[in-house]
Amino acid sequence: MMIVRPAEPADLPTLAPLWRAAWLDGHAGHVPAALMDARGPEHFAVHADKYAGSTLVATGGEGRILGLVILGDDDGEVVQLAVDQSARGEGVGGALLRAAEDRFRGRHRQAWLAVVPGNTRARRMYEFHGWRDTGPITYQAPTATGTVDVPVHRYVKDLDAGGTDVRSP
Ligand SMILES: CC(C)(COP(=O)(O)OP(=O)(O)OC[C@H]1O[C@@H](n2cnc3c(N)ncnc32)[C@H](O)[C@@H]1OP(=O)(O)O)[C@@H](O)C(=O)NCCC(=O)NCCS
Repeated sequence: MMIVRPAEPADLPTLAPLWRAAWLDGHAGHVPAALMDARGPEHFAVHADKYAGSTLVATGGEGRILGLVILGDDDGEVVQLAVDQSARGEGVGGALLRAAEDRFRGRHRQAWLAVVPGNTRARRMYEFHGWRDTGPITYQAPTATGTVDVPVHRYVKDLDAGGTDVRSP
């Protein structure tokens, strides 16, 4: 049975390498070399820790971690979505995406995310879940020393439930 729950400190050593491997699968060959160089194992360890408070994880049998989603609560951004290779194609990514939408609903009118043009699998999944492509933008991807400009597409999903933009503390 799959469960989506907030990440716990004990998850972090598992999350960082899962996230890194999935990130490479989705981005290698689709982002500037400068970003690849900046995304070594330590980047993911540091950021898994930094974002722990806004991360949801999907777990399967015996609590095994299958994937993660990182939420940008300030502006309704789905910051990162990653599913372990062994668990793809079984709806884990979709469940994490819906959990992110549920979390934002009532706080943000619209959720958004950036996806590199070459990540066709992720783009198909977003479209399947009702997200729409609003076209290309430049995303400033954070690195240890600054940011790298990455050409991406901005996807959005309108969230119902009153359309207010009330922020929770
Ligand atoms: C993108 C990613 C998160 C998707 O995770 P996943 O668990 O495989 O996703 P799901 O199983 O929910 O959906 C994947 C597939 O099922 C399809 N799907 C999901 N639910 C479906 C349903 N009810 N009926 C029909 N198709 C469905 C999706 O469109 C997609 O199909 P396709 O890849 O054959 O075109 C995963 O591949 C991943 O981690 N990739 C590497 C990292 C990455 O690219 N992250 C996104 C960065 S923006």
